Amino acid sequence: MERSNSDIKRLIAESYDRIAQGYLEWRAEQHKEGAEAWVSILRQHAGAQLRVLDVGCGAGIPLTKALAEISDVTGLDISAHQIDLARRNVPNARFIHGDIVDADFPPQSFDAVVGSYSFIHIPRAERQDLFRKIAGWLRPGGLLLANFGIGNMEVDYEEDLLGVPMFWSSFDSEGERSAMAAAGFELIFDKIETEIEDGQPHRWLIVLARTKRDSPATTLDTRGPVDWARRPRRLRRSHSDSPRGGGLARGTRQSAMALLVYGLRREHPPATAGT
Ligand SMILES: C[S@@+](CC[C@H](N)C(=O)[O-])C[C@H]1O[C@@H](n2cnc3c(N)ncnc32)[C@H](O)[C@@H]1O
Repeated sequence: MERSNSDIKRLIAESYDRIAQGYLEWRAEQHKEGAEAWVSILRQHAGAQLRVLDVGCGAGIPLTKALAEISDVTGLDISAHQIDLARRNVPNARFIHGDIVDADFPPQSFDAVVGSYSFIHIPRAERQDLFRKIAGWLRPGGLLLANFGIGNMEVDYEEDLLGVPMFWSSFDSEGERSAMAAAGFELIFDKIETEIEDGQPHRWLIVLARTKRDSPATTLDTRGPVDWARRPRRLRRSHSDSPRGGGLARGTRQSAMALLVYGLRREHPPATAGT
């Protein structure tokens, strides 16, 4: 069986539909990145009363809710159940159900775009085009604040994340920066932060970037064949570098051989060494 990117998106949407409430509770237990720090970064670099797009907003807690207290927020999520919860949790924001990759907004619709633990689910081959689209939705000098995995795996699949299958994809830090730069962003800062998930350390790349005012986006020549045979036989979660691949993972990891059937198109080269 082959899985296209749209099959993967369906899998992610259905899985989050099933675990929306459970994920929210798990997230609260883990003391993951809170909303205050992100709100404060946006305030510091762009002020208040912003027009913000929250990509993969989930159930809207904590980030969408906190942003909606100071800004005009649009939340977007591929999971219908997440969007239902978000509408209830954050009545003063507007929400859109859909895949961010298919989304379309008029130019300069937003002052900031945020993505909290959401870009990790977007196949990295789609990331550069997505960054370019996001750059167009932002006003000149608009901000992108997001976190990313640094595990450098194009396909990472878990059979049992809180009882459902899940997919992630990541560059390493340098790969993520390159994709953003090629899409017309300039880095304001990036930093690697360690969080403890289910007792295991996980490192995340947090990036704040802004659209350049004058340089057109460039295109990386990143196409090349996938050498699936070189994949490790045993998967580790790519969206962080936990030594035991812990975190959300609670079930059996699928072997790399099983992922051969995914047949994802390879559009990016192996990323360079991480930081
Ligand atoms: C790990 S949750 C994070 C939710 C929330 N941002 C938070 O900080 O808790 C990831 C969210 O991204 C959404 N998502 C994944 N892929 C997406 C896509 N292609 N377009 C829109 N949303 C997506 C999922 O449905 C899920 O709600």
